[in-house]
Amino acid sequence: KVVAVIMVGGPTKGTRFRPLSFNTPKPLFPLAGQPMVHHPISACKRIPNLAQIFLIGFYEEREFALYVSSLSNELRLPVRYLKEDKPHGSAGGIYYFRDIILEDSPSYIFLLNCDVCCNFPLPDMLEAHKRYGGMGTILVNKVSAESANQFGALVADPVTNELLHYTEKPETFVSDLINCGVYAFTSEIFDYIQDVSIHREGRANLRRVSSFEALQSATRNLPTDFVRLDQDILTPLAGKKRLYTYETMEFWEQIKTPGMSLKCSALYLAQFQLTSPHLLASGNGTKSATIVGDVYIHPSAKVHPTAKIGPNVSISANVRVAPGVRLISCIILDDVEIMDNAVVINSIIGWKSSVGKWSRVQANGDYKDKLGITILGEAVIVEDEVVVTNSIVLPNKTLNLSVLEEIIL
Ligand code: GDD
Repeated sequence: KVVAVIMVGGPTKGTRFRPLSFNTPKPLFPLAGQPMVHHPISACKRIPNLAQIFLIGFYEEREFALYVSSLSNELRLPVRYLKEDKPHGSAGGIYYFRDIILEDSPSYIFLLNCDVCCNFPLPDMLEAHKRYGGMGTILVNKVSAESANQFGALVADPVTNELLHYTEKPETFVSDLINCGVYAFTSEIFDYIQDVSIHREGRANLRRVSSFEALQSATRNLPTDFVRLDQDILTPLAGKKRLYTYETMEFWEQIKTPGMSLKCSALYLAQFQLTSPHLLASGNGTKSATIVGDVYIHPSAKVHPTAKIGPNVSISANVRVAPGVRLISCIILDDVEIMDNAVVINSIIGWKSSVGKWSRVQANGDYKDKLGITILGEAVIVEDEVVVTNSIVLPNKTLNLSVLEEIIL
């Protein structure tokens, strides 16, 4: 048997995702019209002998309850949300729920970060993991040398694929091969997490009887039950023949900012051509508007036949798109109204917002730049003939004048 665990984090983790994380937990933000966490979950369906999917996080239970129960029905597979009372770290979280995760004695446990975008080659990873015979197999990928320091950088044996060296977010260049945040483990992982926990408890007790400076390590402020998968487990186990790597040549991105969510929406829409063409507007007989490239339109949205939409557009529930509208590379969230002849390019339009007649909401589309994507928070009103360029607008604002490169608080 196999179980999969998806780490969804909690409200304090989503700060870079503002203002879009104000009223929706980041894991439920739609990419290609589906909640972020839907993509790894549907990839899990392809794992042979999958018995359960767990989401672990510290968001309020009710925020996930509805989603998780409808998903369980849809997949005909038990999906459970396990809520931590406080953050335990990426390894501490699974350890905290070890009894539930190990209930059916699974032989293998997949662990996935929810904020990565890739094609999740899980069955292939599992095969490789069995061949290697280690405790864990990490999905890895090559990135540009300049960006490698934002991730866990690693060195692997080119022949055996063994993990030889691992540094989390290194200050100087280590390697352009990085940790993708997707792992296959045997249940032995729990023994290693327990070791770290016990070790830490021992040191905490020592500190109580001694004020020795040397005992004060970098981990001194961490609670004993807070265990990080990367620094506390992967780094010390590298080079010990317990960890191996599986390299993906397909797309991989991390989703920490709204700009990256727009990029990842495009990647998932493109993947739908292979996996779920019925979800694309061009593939499901949507004849009304002119569709260019990959577009998702929720069935409840009303799009005027004279609108032109795409590529990379995702339109959520109850959106209304008026005559003559042009939408390119954007995410339009629930209940938005785009009025006659408005243009939206490289932008995310928040829930219940409206864009007035002949208005433009636009940006240059530089995903890595903070103002490279224009974002309207929830219930923003852009009045008629207003141009909003490379800006972030917080919820409930009304714009009656054009703005350029501004953050409207
Ligand atoms: N449930 C729970 N509890 N989830 C957590 C906790 C926690 O206490 N802490 C982090 N997470 C979740 C996050 O939501 C995210 O999905 C994942 O665990 C990893 O988050 P971080 O530990 O903050 O690390 P990171 O995202 O900056 O970097 C990790 O992922 C990169 C790939 O995206 C590292 O593993 C890097 O090495 C890796 O390159």
